Amino acid sequence: MSQSPTTTVPTTTGSNQSESGTRTALVVLAHHRADSLSAHIARRAAARLTAAGYTIDFLDLHAENFDPRMTVADQPEWGNRDKQYAPGTEAHMRRLLAAEVVVVVFPVYWQSVPATLKGWIDSVWNYGFAYGRSKPRLAGKRILWLGLAGATAGDEIIPGMQQLLEAQLSEGLAYYSGFADSRVGLLPDAEDQPQSLDAEGNLVIGEAISGDARTAHYAAFEATAEGFVDDFLAAELVNA
Ligand SMILES: Cc1cc2nc3c(=O)[nH]c(=O)nc-3n(C[C@H](O)[C@H](O)[C@H](O)COP(=O)(O)O)c2cc1C
Repeated sequence: MSQSPTTTVPTTTGSNQSESGTRTALVVLAHHRADSLSAHIARRAAARLTAAGYTIDFLDLHAENFDPRMTVADQPEWGNRDKQYAPGTEAHMRRLLAAEVVVVVFPVYWQSVPATLKGWIDSVWNYGFAYGRSKPRLAGKRILWLGLAGATAGDEIIPGMQQLLEAQLSEGLAYYSGFADSRVGLLPDAEDQPQSLDAEGNLVIGEAISGDARTAHYAAFEATAEGFVDDFLAAELVNA
């Protein structure tokens, strides 16, 4: 689904705390099209964070030509937790370190994250930085994962998808790395043509919604995404 970019968000790239002393939110977008629904939702999330007083570091992995392939330079050396990784990877680590909260927006691919995002996780959340120290450097940070899924909300695959993403991203990654809070906001119905499998395994593509129904569909989709961001921000106030 394509959306025209409509939201302008004040951004900073690779900064630490802003000069005015506001807190930094790192918004990570993993999508290859600037006009994707994922990109639109990332901009909406950034606008919400800006309204809440955060300075935004907007990391568009594709626009920044992030290379997801693991390299020798970025491979952990077990026993050397002070290893210097590739300069670009170290720069990404500094951006993660500078952020108080992180919001990651991605399309769900095969019940997981797209390869670009997986590559960012593999090399940036590296040994000695994200894990492997008794005092984790990322301790206390908070992260929200917004995953857009083509499956419809009523599809029986959705609860399992939520569990899988939470197991991978919250338990396997964020809590393992010392994050204080990690939550997965799953956003089904990202496609305007509902898809399902029939009893024989054939992909059935339903009719595209259009007109007012389409407008209402994506308004509700956007509201759900913004609700995840608002709940995430409200939880910070409760925990403070
Ligand atoms: C390689 C690939 C794998 C996908 N796997 C899933 C999946 O496992 N579950 C699902 O609900 N949708 C899946 N989808 C659909 C995408 O989640 C959906 O097209 C996307 O969220 C739409 O948002 P976008 O316009 O920002 O790309 C997949 C799409 C692609 C291209």
